[in-house]
Amino acid sequence: MIPEGIAYGGDYNPEQWPEEVWAEDVRLMREAGVNMVSVNIFAWALLEPSEGAYDFERLDRILALLHENGIAADLATPTAAPPAWFFRKHPDALPVDRDGRRLSYGSRQTFCPSSPAYRDAALRIARALGERYADHPALAMWHVHNEYGVPVSACYCDSCAAHFRRWLETTYGGVDGVNEAWGTAFWGQHYTSLEQIDPPRTAATVGNPGQALDYKRFADATMRENFVAERDILHRLSPGIPVTTNFMTALSQCDSVDYWAWGREVDIVTNDHYLITDGRRTHVNLAMAADLTRSVAGGAPWILLEHSTSGVNWQPRNPAKAPGQMARNSLAHVARGSEGAMFFQWRQSRRGAEKFHSAMVPHGGTDTRVWREVVELGASLDSLNTVRGTRTQADVAVLWDWHSWWAQNLDWRPSEDHDARERADAFYEALYDRHLTVDFAHPEADLSTYPLVVVPALYLMTEAAGRNLRQYVENGGTLVVSYFSGIVDEHDAVHPGAYPGALRDVLGLTVEEFSPLLPGQSVPVTGPDGSELTGDVWTEFVVPRGAETVWTYGDGLTAGHPAVTRNRHGAGTAWYVSTRLAAQGLDALLGWAAEDARLPARADLPRDVEVVRRNGEAGSYVFVVNHTASEAKVPLDAAGTELLTGERASGRLAVPAGAVRVVRLDG
Ligand code: GAL
Repeated sequence: MIPEGIAYGGDYNPEQWPEEVWAEDVRLMREAGVNMVSVNIFAWALLEPSEGAYDFERLDRILALLHENGIAADLATPTAAPPAWFFRKHPDALPVDRDGRRLSYGSRQTFCPSSPAYRDAALRIARALGERYADHPALAMWHVHNEYGVPVSACYCDSCAAHFRRWLETTYGGVDGVNEAWGTAFWGQHYTSLEQIDPPRTAATVGNPGQALDYKRFADATMRENFVAERDILHRLSPGIPVTTNFMTALSQCDSVDYWAWGREVDIVTNDHYLITDGRRTHVNLAMAADLTRSVAGGAPWILLEHSTSGVNWQPRNPAKAPGQMARNSLAHVARGSEGAMFFQWRQSRRGAEKFHSAMVPHGGTDTRVWREVVELGASLDSLNTVRGTRTQADVAVLWDWHSWWAQNLDWRPSEDHDARERADAFYEALYDRHLTVDFAHPEADLSTYPLVVVPALYLMTEAAGRNLRQYVENGGTLVVSYFSGIVDEHDAVHPGAYPGALRDVLGLTVEEFSPLLPGQSVPVTGPDGSELTGDVWTEFVVPRGAETVWTYGDGLTAGHPAVTRNRHGAGTAWYVSTRLAAQGLDALLGWAAEDARLPARADLPRDVEVVRRNGEAGSYVFVVNHTASEAKVPLDAAGTELLTGERASGRLAVPAGAVRVVRLDG
């Protein structure tokens, strides 16, 4: 069973250590309040030292030890790292990149997902594990594989080519459907048989965009097939034990997996999240990843399966976490729906590629700041047990679609400087700074419960999604759409008529031409109150057809044309912004839209202080996460008990610098 409270622990790789260390491990786990660990993730080579010959003894002893100590196991199928003997026997199970280079083994997560030999071997070891441990009392959850999609997101070998043709046959019913969808009449790419179609391997210049987009879909679907095949075996052998695989929803960490589709296949969503040191506010990226994870879980609770106690070791520069930051990060995930705070890894490795990656037990042992904070965090999480089952409450929806992102990143677009992820980040950050909690939603999802829906960059939009947005606004919703959205259909074909085909009516305008700017260029845009903002990267010739102009371009080719418009449609309102606004402009735009949507202004909350609410049968909880260096005072709308200190709380809650407070409201 998954522990009843908040899951606390990490990846436990005892095979790296002599057995004497294991006894100390479990003693320390108990001291820290660890209640679940992920085991066996990379143990295939030890578990099956030669084909079909299993050695389960070590794992038997590990699981027994965990159970004796009351620690649950998130037991992995080790299929992310096939053994060397396997590749010696099946060299064609190694993946091939776009340039035709076959990659070598000796690292990890390097295999061809279509290889029949890989699939057989992976399902065999999954079955052997299922048969042996289905009834093991330590087994809480199955952890299939590790982070699908990273680092090899697609393979271009001949097995994949054959598999791709079968996928095309199923998707399009034959070669005619493919020709139509991809527009192969252009550049003489017409095919007369599916046999002629290859993966989009390196060619002299750009290939067919429909083919490239479908290959992304195919690669994603292939990984999912592998997951589902393992999952089904485990379901059959151990009914009732949840099966998961660890996602990496942060858009900067994995771009090859459609997590909307994966969220439907797992029994519980789990996620790995690492802070990226790129000069931006890491806590905003963390909040965004957590919100996206909760959203792919359909709003249900999920588990943070990996993050770091301090620095990682795979960036060019890997800063340590500041005192208190580890707990703040963990609790920020819990605020946004996580029911776990787990780490990579339990004990810091002495050898191997990740020996400079932080861990719960650092090289320095227990007389260290990290260890003391690990013990403290265990106690804090223990006091939050009752939040289990409650759900994070969101104010607005941001639409996101991996397929659209893939399509937009294909070659030869109007500007390579337009970056869908950058816009998603920027709009998210602007909403975060207005203290609005975000749910992400698929463009075809039911949006009726959200007063405000934001579309930061949805280049690809199906007709159904367009209809969905129209209906949403007709019924009284407020919509904000950023440029280069609603342009193509699911095959990367431009919607007929003027841009943006999927959104013309709801926005009350057409776009006659795109006019991207050169690096360093910007244009002034003048607001209704005469204020001047700046746009860069992108401008458009917008022609209002019912929409009112709110901001106007003051200079450049588009001078005099609308930069921001507002259209009343049915009972609602649709805003459109045709240039890249920086933070100040986005804040102004979202301020207007939030007023239309009658969202609270929350102007009394300090910047970088998160206030997030989880509600459910177990009660109503207010999480306050203070990322600043000074004490924050946050108004509570009811009295309650602060769970981390046990103190009563009412009126204005004082949250010390860098700290988190969780108030369970009375009633
Ligand atoms: C994850 C991976 C772990 C470990 C960690 C280090 O992506 O699943 O095995 O490598 O990164 O940050």
